[in-house]
Amino acid sequence: MKPERFKFGVEPLDFLLPQGILRSSLIGVFGETGTGKSVLLNEIAYRTLKRGDRVLMVLLEDTPASRLMNFAALGFDVMGYVRKGDLEFLDCFSYRLREKGIDLPEDLAKVLDGAKGIVNVEDPRNLDTFWDQIERDARSMRGRGIVLIDSLTEFLTITPDPSSLLDLMKVVKAVVSKHYMVPVIYTFHFGFFDDFRYVLEVASDGVLDLRFNPEVIKELLIKQMRVRRMSGSRHRPDWVTFDVEPGKGLVILRK
Ligand SMILES: Nc1ncnc2c1ncn2[C@@H]1O[C@H](COP(=O)(O)OP(=O)(O)O)[C@@H](O)[C@H]1O
Ligand SMILES: [Mg+2]
Repeated sequence: MKPERFKFGVEPLDFLLPQGILRSSLIGVFGETGTGKSVLLNEIAYRTLKRGDRVLMVLLEDTPASRLMNFAALGFDVMGYVRKGDLEFLDCFSYRLREKGIDLPEDLAKVLDGAKGIVNVEDPRNLDTFWDQIERDARSMRGRGIVLIDSLTEFLTITPDPSSLLDLMKVVKAVVSKHYMVPVIYTFHFGFFDDFRYVLEVASDGVLDLRFNPEVIKELLIKQMRVRRMSGSRHRPDWVTFDVEPGKGLVILRK
């Protein structure tokens, strides 16, 4: 049986994981705020789309419109993919606006009107409907593409019962990653839900750490990443220093 692998196409990740990862993986990206978790997910999405695969991006911290602006700020034009539905934003954020009776500004609504890749989750606090949606999408992706969740910490803060979300993540791992062979990557902020963090790390197949280089943190915020664990793949053990360059994405500064 040949292992099915997913290659990122993101410079520092490809350096750390020369073989890529097994498609059957649930992976956590851990780090404090500003270490680059969301930009990393954006670049993974962009590279995957460029290869002709689909991306499901679960948004818990921003609207599809603001995420599109983040992609654009990185020099990644993904609007065409969103229109076709190859990039799907599962919008678990805008329910807050709807609850307050606030609509999208008209010009934005026009741009996004009819885009297949904008999918509203009526109320993400209802985990059953969230699961139905993600299962349906993953089933249609079988063996292709990737699911990205930004961020799981935010998800934990809105669910009435965080432990049921943890159970759901185990189901996501079993069904989406292992059965449909669609890798799932979630982000997680340090400093919240630390008890969940350890359970999540153990439940995941891979753990990536992002941090500011602690040796120079007083003068400079220099971003670094490393692979703490990746089951089924060889990885380099060291921290890699990277920066974010518009048009290029994450680039290695020094090895
Ligand atoms: N378009 C961009 N151009 C240059 N640097 C960027 C861009 N977007 C993000 N960054 C860098 O990445 C950092 C934050 O990344 P982000 O992914 O939002 O962090 P996190 O999700 O871990 O909180 C920013 O503080 C900035 O240094
Ligand atoms: Mg973020």
